[in-house]
Amino acid sequence: MKSSFTALPAWGSTLAGGVLLLSCLTACTAPSGGKVESPDGSIALSFGVNDGRPFYTVASRGVAVMDTSYLGIEAREAVFGVDSRITSVDVSEHDSTWEQPWGEEISVREHYRQLAVGLEETDAEGRKLKYDIVFRVFDDGFGFRYEIPEQNGLDSLVIMEENTSFNIAGNPVTWGIPWDNAFYEALYIPRNLAEIDTVSTPVTMKMSDSLYVTLHEAALTDYASLNLHPDAEGSTNLRTFLTPWSTGEKVFAKLPLKTPWRIAIIGHSAADLMLSRLMLNLNEPCAIEDVSWIEPGRYIGIWWGMHTRDYTWLAGPKHGATTENTKRYIDFAAENGYSGVLVEGWNKGWEAYDRGDGSEFSFTEPYPDFDIEEICRYGAEKGVRLIGHHETCGDLKNYESQMDSAFAMCERLGINAVKTGYVGHLLDGKERHGSQYAVRHYRNVIENAARHHVMIDNHEPVMPTGLQRTYPNLMTQEGVRGQEWDAWSADGGNPPEHTVTIPFTRCLAGPVDFTPGTFNFTNPVMPQTHCQTTLAKQLALSVVLFSPLQMSSDKIENYQGQPGLEFISKCPTSWAKTVVPEAEIGEYVTVARKDRDSDTWYVGSVTGREAHELALPLDFLDAGAKYKARIFADGEGADYNSNPYPLEISDMEVDNTSVLNLKLAPSGGTAIILEKI
Ligand code: NOJ
Ligand code: CA
Repeated sequence: MKSSFTALPAWGSTLAGGVLLLSCLTACTAPSGGKVESPDGSIALSFGVNDGRPFYTVASRGVAVMDTSYLGIEAREAVFGVDSRITSVDVSEHDSTWEQPWGEEISVREHYRQLAVGLEETDAEGRKLKYDIVFRVFDDGFGFRYEIPEQNGLDSLVIMEENTSFNIAGNPVTWGIPWDNAFYEALYIPRNLAEIDTVSTPVTMKMSDSLYVTLHEAALTDYASLNLHPDAEGSTNLRTFLTPWSTGEKVFAKLPLKTPWRIAIIGHSAADLMLSRLMLNLNEPCAIEDVSWIEPGRYIGIWWGMHTRDYTWLAGPKHGATTENTKRYIDFAAENGYSGVLVEGWNKGWEAYDRGDGSEFSFTEPYPDFDIEEICRYGAEKGVRLIGHHETCGDLKNYESQMDSAFAMCERLGINAVKTGYVGHLLDGKERHGSQYAVRHYRNVIENAARHHVMIDNHEPVMPTGLQRTYPNLMTQEGVRGQEWDAWSADGGNPPEHTVTIPFTRCLAGPVDFTPGTFNFTNPVMPQTHCQTTLAKQLALSVVLFSPLQMSSDKIENYQGQPGLEFISKCPTSWAKTVVPEAEIGEYVTVARKDRDSDTWYVGSVTGREAHELALPLDFLDAGAKYKARIFADGEGADYNSNPYPLEISDMEVDNTSVLNLKLAPSGGTAIILEKI
């Protein structure tokens, strides 16, 4: 085994901001490795080359996270990482702060130390191949990517596989979902790492009570999505499996190429995972100059009624998307603090939906009983926007041929948000939702929508990777087993632990359109299937599951006269600050968030199958100030299975020295508004 590391000089002690080059080792003797630590020194990453194979190792607070993990890329034209030698090692530091137009907080600090390694290898034909591997180590984890220049007459590569590995030190409990679940609508079931099959990322691991790791990727813009699998049965060395094209290739890349970042969030508690902004920090800055038209908000929809079979999408006697029905929803929205109304089934073409055929969809022609001009006029009068809906059934060709005129129509009518959808196991009959083909399409939609000042809520997406930093009109996405499963899933709906697991898995990939807010737990079509939560938990999920455009799932009839609606109506969807006072994966989580436009805080606390008691210190409130706490708690006898409805609303005066004692029912919750007085 040949491996050694070069010690680097001591870190620079002052840093005003921007990039500071700390060392550059390109001297006469080629370096044999490099090391870099996170700015706070807690994470140490080492790089070396072993028999021509580049590798890295990582430790957190002195504890091994990744053992020797090999790297490389296999393309038809060239293979990188089999006979490499290091030509340069550059270490630099970056420290800046950027602002989010919407998000879980306003300011994000981007502080990392970078290790950029230049590599070269001579292939069988005697060609010299150059490439770089760039690592960025933050206090909350690290990311790395491959950078391959144009060279030797090579201006493109057909990548057949990426030989990236994460050789996990240990056999932690792991949460992931099968890579081939078309829309990522699956349950995250905990297993020991050595027992998992191929999973899509994010994949989350509890290494110990003080070490949690999530593997994912950042900035997937023109590449295949990342999946991981053990390199042998029972192994804990995870290797890359990129989602293939139908023809078997993984990526058609133009050179120069910068791959997406491969990332590991590293936290000392489950709460730390939720507070990491590593993925956003590894995306490019905002590409939209004027973001003033991007408006977070809350919406309802003519939607749940389709899933419970009260309405149909297609025109006919049970058509949900009628002018009259939509006006009712607009009236309700205006009275209850909703900024938008989503209407599905407004456009021609739903006749073929049940066959999974999207070729008949028009994205500009409404059904005759849906007067879109009048609806938009009426909505504008009431301060409520229509939210557009573009279900494609995965027929990208049909959608792309109409997309520009469809978004232009939205812009003309003041429709500033569109929910897109890609139901259908394969896109255009052959490509996967995680393939490069799909990634290109989704990005094309975001960019086109941005040109027409339209925000996107994307269903059946590729797993999100933080692109909203660059395109903040990408508001939210599905890619989760959402609340719709509680309407029609034959397995009874989402189990209690699902909503206390996704905050540490899917939600780490970005905002989630889960659609909390079901108030009626009776399902006349499938009596065994229902939301497996209490009513109070539905309220609390509005805080826990971050989404800058957030939909309340239920029909308006089920909200009318319900005291619990007050919480959802008031709860913002974009935040100045977020804290996570307590969390355990699959068990419970409490999140407190401060409004962007006032001094008010909102708390959501939810539990899984077990009842949960907590003493919640309000030390995040301003010192010296008094607040009114309005508490929406599980009432006497509440239980997700037998008695979900009891809701107790109470008020008390508190300050930042107060501790609230909360009792959460089985799969229950508590939602709290803390208003300065
Ligand atoms: C699946 C989406 O997730 C759901 O919200 C929508 O109602 C249907 N597709 C129809 O577009
Ligand atoms: Ca869906």
